[in-house]
Amino acid sequence: MSSLGQPLRWLATCGSTNTTLNTWAADGAPHGSLMVAEEQVEGRGRLGRTWHSTKGDLMFSLLLRPKSLAPIHAPPLTLLVGLSLLRCLDEAGVHCQIKWPNDLYIDGKKCAGILTEMSTAGKHVSKIVVGVGVNIKEKKELEEVGGVALENCDPAITKWSVLDGFLRIFESHWTDFQKDQSLAKHAEILSERLLDKKQILLNGNSKLEISPLRVLENGALVYLDANGEKHHAVSGELSLIS
Ligand code: BTN
Repeated sequence: MSSLGQPLRWLATCGSTNTTLNTWAADGAPHGSLMVAEEQVEGRGRLGRTWHSTKGDLMFSLLLRPKSLAPIHAPPLTLLVGLSLLRCLDEAGVHCQIKWPNDLYIDGKKCAGILTEMSTAGKHVSKIVVGVGVNIKEKKELEEVGGVALENCDPAITKWSVLDGFLRIFESHWTDFQKDQSLAKHAEILSERLLDKKQILLNGNSKLEISPLRVLENGALVYLDANGEKHHAVSGELSLIS
């Protein structure tokens, strides 16, 4: 059994597991604490978006209290979370791709999203709340937002099997990351499994059509712009061209 994921609090319903875990963290929740909800009524996504899920979907938040991590080295963690989820779904025979830096896609449709929230104290990261939402249950709304449910790919898949696999794999990635604070071991697989079709890179007010190429050890995305010139992005959000 993983040591990440303990202590565990399970809620029948909550606003957002990230928000609830943040409150628990302020009350002293230790590294590895896990908040799981059966239902979220105010699920949050990146860029202030709402995250919709239904009962039977997987919604959880994991608390990390790094020993010594500078904020500049924290962003690759979201990719490590995505990679752990991807590897756990590989084990179940479900093939995903990573939409840099925080989503998993199956055949061009989103099946999971990650919301990482970090707090700092002085020069170091004091805590990270990693929130993960995975579409398990089929529902009409998913089609409208271009999403896909895992039970469509494998009817035997359950949220508990995904959570269990994720914690086991992420624990080993996290142990390595604490040592080198880099994606050195994983940049190749992340690059191979990038959702590589043309996308729009949103960064502040700028919008660029790009073709993702690969991921670097620091988590940056290497991409080609519309003129075929190579660039790096260290932050930003990609959206699919419909
Ligand atoms: C995104 O795709 O923008 C990120 C979605 C993250 C959703 C998860 S569900 C569990 C956790 N609690 C939240 O309120 N959000 C994350």
